[in-house]
Amino acid sequence: MEKLCLITGGSKGIGFEIAKKMAEKEYTIILNSRNPFEAVRKLQEQNFKVIELAGSITEESFLKNLIEIVESYGYIDSVLINYGGPPIKPFLEVSEKEWVEYFNLMFLSPLTIIKELIKYLERSNYPRIVAITSFTSIKPIKNMVISNSLRIGLVNALKTIALEFADKNILINAVAPGYIETERLKDFIQKQSQILNVEPNEYKKAIEKNIPLRRIGQAEELAKFVSFLLSYENTYITGQHFAFDGGITI
Ligand SMILES: NC(=O)c1ccc[n+]([C@@H]2O[C@H](COP(=O)([O-])OP(=O)(O)OC[C@H]3O[C@@H](n4cnc5c(N)ncnc54)[C@H](OP(=O)(O)O)[C@@H]3O)[C@@H](O)[C@H]2O)c1
Repeated sequence: MEKLCLITGGSKGIGFEIAKKMAEKEYTIILNSRNPFEAVRKLQEQNFKVIELAGSITEESFLKNLIEIVESYGYIDSVLINYGGPPIKPFLEVSEKEWVEYFNLMFLSPLTIIKELIKYLERSNYPRIVAITSFTSIKPIKNMVISNSLRIGLVNALKTIALEFADKNILINAVAPGYIETERLKDFIQKQSQILNVEPNEYKKAIEKNIPLRRIGQAEELAKFVSFLLSYENTYITGQHFAFDGGITI
């Protein structure tokens, strides 16, 4: 039977690498992001089966289009919850409007997607869900209050769902990346060094020095781990939140 996998936030960085690994495991990928076109083309060029799903995961039209695709299969096997990171700014600069906007993106939309997809996951032989979080939800850092707080709420919601659907064999986990080389990390280094008034290069060196493994991780190595949890290969791990971070949260 054809295996179907949704990847949200899949056009670049961590999400794109996970989409590639799942495609290599012969899953058909529903690839979502607001602008997924180039990524879809890249994967199709490698003869992977990809269905394009453009739109923000916060939009009603996204959910409607997603359900239409999944309904045409009648089931879905794997769901990766991923999206762009929230603004990097001190607590006092975060507006109420931003709290609501990122609550919708990072907490409510993932749960709505899962709620809508549960009945289709129940029809899969190997139903799996993984959410990408951040090491900052395990070890909070400055200027990341939105990420530090909303993601851990999502983790506990996922653990609850993992318990409630364990009897249906739906395995649900979350993975907290450490510093991973992507566009988001470049932005992060830029913004943090601006706020802290240090040179971006110096800030990057300080990050590397603080990682016990002494290097920034690659999206591909993270994708290997996540695609294991997200596929039929995982048969006994559920309700966990794993740090994938070179030891930064030790
Ligand atoms: N890289 C790191 O070091 C690191 C560390 C800890 C945590 N994280 C977290 O891990 C996640 C992925 O990180 P990354 O480095 O791969 O980020 P990235 O390079 O910025 O990629 C983010 C992805 O999410 C998509 N996206 C953004 N907003 C979306 C929305 N509303 N709906 C659907 N898709 C959306 C983007 O595509 P479009 O622009 O086309 O929508 C893109 O594909 C982020 O939440 C990030 O904060 C990253």
